[in-house]
Amino acid sequence: MKSKLNRLGCAFLACAPVGASVQYCAKDAEQGVDFCLSMAAYQNDSTDGSDLYLTLGAVDRPGEGWMAVGIGELMAGSLMFVTATDENEKSIVSARTTRGHFPPEVNPELIPRTAMISVNSTIRCWREVSFVCYSCDSWASFQPKSTNNPWIWASNGYQKNEHADEDFGLQIHNSLGFFYVDMTEVMGDSSQPAGPPPIDRVAGSYGASATPLTDESTPKSSPSSSRSWHGFLLFLAFLILYPAGAVASILKRRNWFHIHVCMQILGTSACFIGVALQASSLTSAGLWRRFLDAHPFLGTLLTLLVLAQLVLGYWHHVEFVRKQKKTTITAIHIWNGRLILSLGAVNTLMGLMYARASSTWKYFWGFIAALEVILFLVVLPRLEASNSRKTRADDMATNGGGDEATAHLLLESEEANS
Ligand SMILES: *[C@@H]1O[C@H](CO)[C@@H](O)[C@H](O)[C@H]1NC(C)=O
Ligand SMILES: *[C@@H]1O[C@H](CO)[C@@H](O)[C@H](O)[C@H]1NC(C)=O
Repeated sequence: MKSKLNRLGCAFLACAPVGASVQYCAKDAEQGVDFCLSMAAYQNDSTDGSDLYLTLGAVDRPGEGWMAVGIGELMAGSLMFVTATDENEKSIVSARTTRGHFPPEVNPELIPRTAMISVNSTIRCWREVSFVCYSCDSWASFQPKSTNNPWIWASNGYQKNEHADEDFGLQIHNSLGFFYVDMTEVMGDSSQPAGPPPIDRVAGSYGASATPLTDESTPKSSPSSSRSWHGFLLFLAFLILYPAGAVASILKRRNWFHIHVCMQILGTSACFIGVALQASSLTSAGLWRRFLDAHPFLGTLLTLLVLAQLVLGYWHHVEFVRKQKKTTITAIHIWNGRLILSLGAVNTLMGLMYARASSTWKYFWGFIAALEVILFLVVLPRLEASNSRKTRADDMATNGGGDEATAHLLLESEEANS
C-alpha cells in the first residue's frame, strides 16, 4: 500500500499542472465512457469557505445524454454535478442531490451555489465544461482533510436533449462508477488565483484512483448504517424467517403451527422495522415519482401483502378450527405466501444491487435463493406427498392439520379480548 502511495505521489509531482490540482480519467469502451475530471479548491477569504473548481471533459455529443460526477459514496446524500449539452450546443451544469437511489433533484436551499465558468470545445469530439461550486466544503460528504474521499460518476449516453436547462429531468444512468480523491491535494495552496484547472488527458489520473487510495475505510455515516440495518432485517425476514415458517407449515411436524406463527411474527417484526428505517427516504419531495423506482415500489407492495397475510392467516385459522377443513381463505393465504416469498427474494436482490453490497452478500443471496428453489419446488412437494399419504393412513379426519386444529390458544385469547 505504501509503495502505491509513493507511486501516486511521484506521478503527481511529475504530471501536475501549475497549481495543485487532481485529475481523474476513466476510459471504458465497454460502458461507452471516456471522460476526465480535474479539480482544484481555493479558500475564499470573503466567505471563509472552500470554492471547488471543476473541469469535466467528455466525448462531445450535442443533443445526446448527460454526464455527472458526485462527491459521496453513493447517490444518496451525494452532491452531484450534472452536465449536458443540447442540440444547439448549449452546455449546462446543475448541482443536485437525492436521498436514495432516485433521480437527483435541484434544491437551491440545500445545495451550495454552482455556476458555469466556461465551455471549451476547441478539440474535435471533446468538450470541457468548467464550473465552480462556492463554499463546497459546506456539503457533508466533502471531506477536505481526507486522503481517500469517495466520489461517484454516472452517465447516460442516449437521453435526447433538445433544450438543456438547469433542472431538466434525468433519465436513469446506463453506466456508473466510483473513484477516490486525495482531497488534501485538491485543497492546494490558497495563494494561487482562483480558476478552473486544465485537463491533461495524456497524464491520466493523479491524486485520484478508481480503487481506494488508502486502506482505511471511510467512516460510515448514520444514514448508511440505517440502510445496512434495513438490508439486514429484510434479508433476514424474506430469505430466512418467512421461508422457515413456510417450511414448518408444509412439513407439519410436531408443534409446526406454533413454529409457523412464531417465525412469521418474527419475520414481520423484522420486515416492519426494516421498512421503517428507510421510510424517511420516501418522504421528501417527489414522492410519487420515487414510487416508480422498482425497489421502493415493490417494497411498498410487499408491505401491503404482508399486512394482508396477517389478516388472511388469522382468518384462515378461525375458519379451520371451526370447520376442521381447508377453506378458500386457506388457498388465498397459501398463494399470497408464495407471492411474498418470490417477490421478497427478488426485491432483496434489487436492494443489494442498489446499495452496492459486496459480492459476498450477492453470492450469499444466490446460495440461499437456489437452496429455497430446490427446497420448495423439489424436496418439499415429495415430502408433502409422502406426509399426506401417511397422515391419511393414520387419521383421515385430521388431514395433516391436527396440530393447528388443537391450537385454539390464539383464537381463544383473541375472543377473550374482544
Ligand atoms: C468568493 O465567494 C463569493 C460568493 O460565493 C464569490 O462571488 C466570489 O467570486 C468568490 N471570490 C473569489 C476570489 O473567487
Ligand atoms: C481547451 O482544452 C484543451 C485540452 O484540454 C486545452 O489544450 C486548451 O488550452 C483549452 N482551451 C482553452 C481556451 O481553455
